[in-house]
Amino acid sequence: MGTMKAVQIHAFGDIDVLQYREVERPEPQAGEVLVRVRAAGVNLVDAASRHFPLPITTGKKELPYILGWDIAGDVVAIGPGVTQFALGDAVYGMPRFPDEAKAYSEYTTAPVADIALKPHALTYQEAAGVPLAALTAWQSLFDLAHLQAGQTIFISGGSGGVGHFAIQLAKWRGARVITTTSTRNVEFVRNLGADVVLDYTKQAFQEVVKDVDVVLDAIGEDFLKHSFEVVKRGGIIVSLPGHKGVGQLGAELAPRYGVQFVLAMVHPSGEQMAELAQLFDAGKLKVHLDGVFPLQEAAQAHKLSEDGHVRGKLVLNVE
Ligand SMILES: NC(=O)c1ccc[n+]([C@@H]2O[C@H](COP(=O)([O-])OP(=O)(O)OC[C@H]3O[C@@H](n4cnc5c(N)ncnc54)[C@H](OP(=O)(O)O)[C@@H]3O)[C@@H](O)[C@H]2O)c1
Repeated sequence: MGTMKAVQIHAFGDIDVLQYREVERPEPQAGEVLVRVRAAGVNLVDAASRHFPLPITTGKKELPYILGWDIAGDVVAIGPGVTQFALGDAVYGMPRFPDEAKAYSEYTTAPVADIALKPHALTYQEAAGVPLAALTAWQSLFDLAHLQAGQTIFISGGSGGVGHFAIQLAKWRGARVITTTSTRNVEFVRNLGADVVLDYTKQAFQEVVKDVDVVLDAIGEDFLKHSFEVVKRGGIIVSLPGHKGVGQLGAELAPRYGVQFVLAMVHPSGEQMAELAQLFDAGKLKVHLDGVFPLQEAAQAHKLSEDGHVRGKLVLNVE
């Protein structure tokens, strides 16, 4: 069995626990492919899983642990029974989430149901910025909120990983989009198609927004509290956990306002990754990369991610 380079943690904690190491290369099991990872996306949940074992994980929680979920790369070996992919296929996806996927490495295995062919229009780096954030946006808008053409959606944090996909997907569906961002990102989200952009440093959204059909809350408790004031009775708020207290607050307020409240939890889907790939290839969806770091510099990417003002996505390049 060969070895590979990977970013591993041997203890939970700050960015100094991230270690670039030589580790054992995995082998694909039945229904899996081995992917030579060319790039790995960085998400806030990566930093969370560096700090503590994710409570949502169903599998291995002990150390050492290879971080990351988003991958783009090439199929270099195929496990028994795999017919969906061939050697040399360029693929992308978010395998196994929330269980360990080992994306921050040169090689990882992926169940075939969790990946799709990489969009031709995207580089490996761009493709690695897509899976977790775009799946979260897709599942929140379409599977949970059932967003329809002609409806109005209010998206908080429109310039972030999830937000910048959510704006484009909502526009593609034919909805009207209102979003919030800081001053430096106003033009950015307008160019993604947002119809109304509120600068949260100058304006409280609850004073302006009224009677929307759907809210996608990507920010947290304070934002969520006021979201109930802007959604119409019978509307829906989809909140992305990652912030303490949102579940309890939402459940308390929903009956009082007569709205539906749902906590989203992203799950892998090769099928949805394939639908997203079609949109990228048709020029209907774009990914914005705010920074590309070598795998060895994952710590720098984590620091930026945790600072909370990434525009679009951060990606690790795996040479
Ligand atoms: N439940 C799930 O399945 C799931 C999946 C994915 C993500 N999440 C969670 O969803 C949240 C968003 O994820 P993400 O990956 O999109 O995060 P992200 O990429 O780190 O978002 C960063 C963006 O947030 C914006 N922002 C920061 N403070 C803001 C504020 N007060 N008002 C409006 N925008 C603000 C920033 O814009 P400015 O620089 O303009 O402030 C920046 O562009 C995170 O809490 C994440 O953990 C949950």
